[in-house]
Amino acid sequence: MSQIENVLHESRRFQPTAEFQARARINNEITYQRMYRQSLEDPEGFWGRIARELPWTAQWTKVLDWSKAPFAKWFVGGQINASAACLDRHLATPVANKVALLWEGEPGDTRQVTYSELADEVGRLANGLRSLGVKKGDRVAIYMPMLIESVVAMLACARIGAAHSVVFGGFSAQALRERIQDGGCTAVITADGGFRRGQIQALKPAVDEALLGLKEVHSVVVVKRGGNPVGWKEGRDHWYHELTKQSSSNCVPEAMDSEDVLFLLYTSGSTGKPKGIVHTTGGYLVGTYLTFQHVFDIRPEDIYWCTADIGWITGHSYVVYGPLQNGATVFLYEGAPNTPHLGRLWEMVQKHKLTILYTAPTAIRTFMRWGDEHPGRFDLSSLRLLGTVGEPINPEAWMWYHRVIGRERCPIVDTWWQTETGAIMITPLPGLTATKPGSCTRPFFGVDAAVVDEKGQELATNQGGFLVLKRPWPSMLRGIWNDPERYVQTYWGKFGHMYLAGDGSRRDEDGYFWVMGRIDDVLNVSGHRLSTMEVESALVSHPKVVEAAVVARPDELTGQAICAFVTVRSGEKVGPQLKVDLGEHVAREIGKLARPAEIRFTEALPKTRSGKIMRRLLRDIAAGVETVGDTSTIEDYSVLAKLRADEE
Ligand code: WT7
Repeated sequence: MSQIENVLHESRRFQPTAEFQARARINNEITYQRMYRQSLEDPEGFWGRIARELPWTAQWTKVLDWSKAPFAKWFVGGQINASAACLDRHLATPVANKVALLWEGEPGDTRQVTYSELADEVGRLANGLRSLGVKKGDRVAIYMPMLIESVVAMLACARIGAAHSVVFGGFSAQALRERIQDGGCTAVITADGGFRRGQIQALKPAVDEALLGLKEVHSVVVVKRGGNPVGWKEGRDHWYHELTKQSSSNCVPEAMDSEDVLFLLYTSGSTGKPKGIVHTTGGYLVGTYLTFQHVFDIRPEDIYWCTADIGWITGHSYVVYGPLQNGATVFLYEGAPNTPHLGRLWEMVQKHKLTILYTAPTAIRTFMRWGDEHPGRFDLSSLRLLGTVGEPINPEAWMWYHRVIGRERCPIVDTWWQTETGAIMITPLPGLTATKPGSCTRPFFGVDAAVVDEKGQELATNQGGFLVLKRPWPSMLRGIWNDPERYVQTYWGKFGHMYLAGDGSRRDEDGYFWVMGRIDDVLNVSGHRLSTMEVESALVSHPKVVEAAVVARPDELTGQAICAFVTVRSGEKVGPQLKVDLGEHVAREIGKLARPAEIRFTEALPKTRSGKIMRRLLRDIAAGVETVGDTSTIEDYSVLAKLRADEE
């Protein structure tokens, strides 16, 4: 395999405003360089100093044990409880009476809890779970809407030393069952249902179906939210409000070894069965604590909103563990962004005076398609910082976010990381880094990232290749649940001593990283290896286009030909002329080579529940073959059916 060619040229630069910079934690290059150098030259010293800021109950003896690579141990022998690190540590400080979670339900109801109230609630549920027989070392599945109780559930598990395995509430009973079985969960925390697009989305029936014949699960705790009627299995099922009413709020946290499992989180992977990514306690807490602090440059008065569901790693690291360890106020929203109107998010930003917004490119492109008038109706002046995660962001979507949401005042942190990395790895520091639309910029402290070729040799400036991480980091995954071999083979099999992220990337003349998408998605046209991301970005830079996915289909002449699936702005006309225009546009932006052989207009693209475009399915459609492999993570099956029906 040869390298990936870089055809996208982006020359816009954005400096943080002087005001933002003046107040930021890290606001000059010298400090950054010094800290970054220290973090690589003396990682144990660097991470040891950070870790000392956390409330350990037993001191570690060694910062890193890498002798059994790639199985790492961080803060060896140390003891710390994650719920105590998020809650108890604040109780003797003024943070105790600060709002920890500010929640809005889809119907518009609101609720908030302070750190001390949250600690009480977590204590009550933790005692309740213990009374049901849940103990240290067990696994508990959490299948919930976005509620305050969902965060309580995670922290209550952590408090008693049970690993949580959060399964996204939009997944089916079958997907839930597989994850419960694979993880060996013995209890489930769920809700009757939650509000989504003006309706009640029932969850309890899916739990009942998932548990049919599963004797290992002895208890199900049910939060009453939707008020929808639910089936009940006496002896197994317990209402959350009854269980917690009977329990004391005083629950001594379990002493957890730094390497005890904190949680499992399943990621789908493009094929095969979902992988239960394992994260442990000490290193994960240190990584999420430090990244949250610096990447969001958090201030005491911030009201921070990460739109991710707790079913994803972003919801774990940057709704729960990172923000709460830092004593931040976190906003949570239960429902859909278009209910009851397309400006709902912006209305909530205005109403709650939210200061930081962290969301995904897929959401940003959707807002773009809905039109500027929706955010335009609201006062967004409380916002001071924006973030994105989940996919490469197309420069035009970045510019829209900057202009229409950030009103050209707010820095944007484009954060690259993975479920497996646990915490943000490559990212701007908002008070320092000059950003370039589409680039996640530079590695965070302690992150030794590089772009290498097939043989593991580092590539020259602007040459595309494999993104690797050259050394262990505290919040790294410790393995795949029940499958150590798959862990070694997937992430360490190719280069041995370097972690393979599975993404293509290049690094520019300033050392900035430009992630080009998954390696499996790379196009090969007449021997030229092109990144899907770059061709898609060229399409999205056309004023009529809001979203595009390109895939390769077999072609006798060129080996592969580019097939583009394109979504246009609301109200734009599609037809043969636009196809010609778009072909010309791509040829002009990046060269004739990248001109799609075929363009198909579509209302929507097939995406995973977390918003990633499923190019694998589009490849099958473009090639005219039946889809094989796992489609259980697709968000909306009707999109696939429509795409097939449109085939000419
Ligand atoms: C994959 C990881 C990490 C939380 C959400 C996704 C892609 C993620 C970026 C970014 C370009 C990105 C990569 C990565 N990705 N962030 N800022 N720029 N690509 O977690 O589901 O484990 O997915 O998402 O392809 O490998 P995940």
